[in-house]
Amino acid sequence: MSKTKQNIFITNNFGETQNLGENFARILLAQAVQGVSLSRDNVVALYGNLGSGKTTFVQGLARGFGIRKRIISPTFVFVRQYKVSPPRCNTFYHVDLYRIENQREIEGMGLREIINDGKNTIVIEWAEKMQNLLPKKRWDVEFKDLGGSKRKITINQKL
Ligand SMILES: Nc1ncnc2c1ncn2[C@@H]1O[C@H](COP(=O)(O)OP(=O)(O)OP(=O)(O)O)[C@@H](O)[C@H]1O
Ligand SMILES: [Mg+2]
Repeated sequence: MSKTKQNIFITNNFGETQNLGENFARILLAQAVQGVSLSRDNVVALYGNLGSGKTTFVQGLARGFGIRKRIISPTFVFVRQYKVSPPRCNTFYHVDLYRIENQREIEGMGLREIINDGKNTIVIEWAEKMQNLLPKKRWDVEFKDLGGSKRKITINQKL
């Protein structure tokens, strides 16, 4: 059976969600710097309704990776890539599968190759659409709108 380590956070505004993303980037980067880039969990799968805070979290994550470009949702492009300076990782990919209609479309995006390169970091909104294309070892982050500007964010590390 696969194991999961779980941490639950409540954020009270979008800035706190960005900060959580930025702090989470430190964990990912620490793994990369330790030279375990080939076995580290380089996929971060995001789940949650429209407006629950996924892109906001990615903005913080990108900031933590030293990316200065503004992160916007890649809804029509599906994948955006950002170069990251070593030793952080080679490339940061922001994927949004909201408009994807079937698995075959995803297979045509070349995500498998991108994921297999352990030096990449891949963050995926609407990751449930990947189904069995997601690696077993990964991070699952769930977003829940608790009303107003409160969000519950659950980070699961699938070991
Ligand atoms: N605590 C919070 N954390 C994150 N966003 C918040 C919070 N409180 C309010 N918001 C607002 O909620 C919205 C979240 O939008 P965001 O684009 O991050 O959601 P999303 O999950 O990526 O949605 P989509 O599925 O459409 O891509 C923003 O307008 C943001 O300002
Ligand atoms: Mg989004």
